[in-house]
Amino acid sequence: MNGLRAEAVSRYLAWAKLHSNARFNLAASGITDYPLAELPVQIKDLEIGGTGPYGYEPLMDRLARKASVPKECVVYTLGASMANFVALTAMVHPGDEVLLEQPTYDPMLAVLHHLGAKVHRFRRHAKDGFQLRVEELEGQLTPRTRLVVLCNLHNPSSAFTNDDTLRQIGAMAAKIGARVLVDEVYLEALFDQPWRSAFHLGPNFVVTSSLTKAYGLSGIRCGWILAEPELVHRMWQVVDFTYGSPVHPAELLAVIALDNLARVRERARMLLETNRVLLNEFLASHPDLESEPSHFGTTVFPRLRKGHAADFVKTLREKYETSVVPGEFFEEPEHFRIGFCGATETVRGGLERLGSALEIFP
Ligand SMILES: Cc1ncc(COP(=O)(O)O)c(C=O)c1O
Repeated sequence: MNGLRAEAVSRYLAWAKLHSNARFNLAASGITDYPLAELPVQIKDLEIGGTGPYGYEPLMDRLARKASVPKECVVYTLGASMANFVALTAMVHPGDEVLLEQPTYDPMLAVLHHLGAKVHRFRRHAKDGFQLRVEELEGQLTPRTRLVVLCNLHNPSSAFTNDDTLRQIGAMAAKIGARVLVDEVYLEALFDQPWRSAFHLGPNFVVTSSLTKAYGLSGIRCGWILAEPELVHRMWQVVDFTYGSPVHPAELLAVIALDNLARVRERARMLLETNRVLLNEFLASHPDLESEPSHFGTTVFPRLRKGHAADFVKTLREKYETSVVPGEFFEEPEHFRIGFCGATETVRGGLERLGSALEIFP
């Protein structure tokens, strides 16, 4: 046994790491890796050790500039995973009431259990395209709610929540002295429209994000939290549990990637644009899958109209060498998540196999 509570385990991440691999991987939600050789980097640009106990200053400058916030509001983390862990640990005490969306990114729920939070849920419904409904959330707020947690774009559906809706939620939370944590890791993939972080919507917003999903830079692990300076200090105390000094070569690579983000972004934008056309054609011609066409993000979360989705997903992987994420990991067992952010040939091949599997199933 270990020191984790039984429910404080992310079954989804264990599955994603150990069992999601397949010849045609439609389980991933992040753009396929950007080739290092395409970044203007040479070995002389890298160094083992550097200065900046909570982040290399040139990197902190760039992150602050990117988010249009003062540097004092940025916590550097290893990916959005660490950002969420650090932010939640700094804000949630045992017994605190936390309101979390459902379906959710499973590690959010696991970390909240780990922290001993009382987790309440508000639903996003498939019939609404998993759009966030303010009244649904308001119905679950209580005077004891300390924190509201959601993702924008939503994982697994990629539903987009606009600023007006977020502002209303921020105001409702502020009335009872609660904060709102918005995980914006997929918002970075909104390439075709200007957006600003929810951090700018009010002082009770805390935001987590990273360069991992939208740019194919997962291996660099560049993540961040945006928070009020007083909270930043508390978050650093949590960071102290995780490292003495940051991984400097990764910081240097992140600086180079940020300085060349326009080209990294363009490659991701073109890939997603091409793949989204394939996906939407596929969805339109497969009525066994209930799903709106994709407009945002890197994933869709259709419902299988026939048979058991878990059996279908299993058959798809075993007989058709194609993986998608079972809906059970998002508490929606009739659904599964399709990621269309791999190489176009992989996405095309995976969708063809998905179509063949649907023909013979159940
Ligand atoms: C909503 C959400 N937040 C955070 C993460 C973790 O991101 P990172 O790779 O930056 O650690 C993921 C990964 O799937 C995610 O879906």
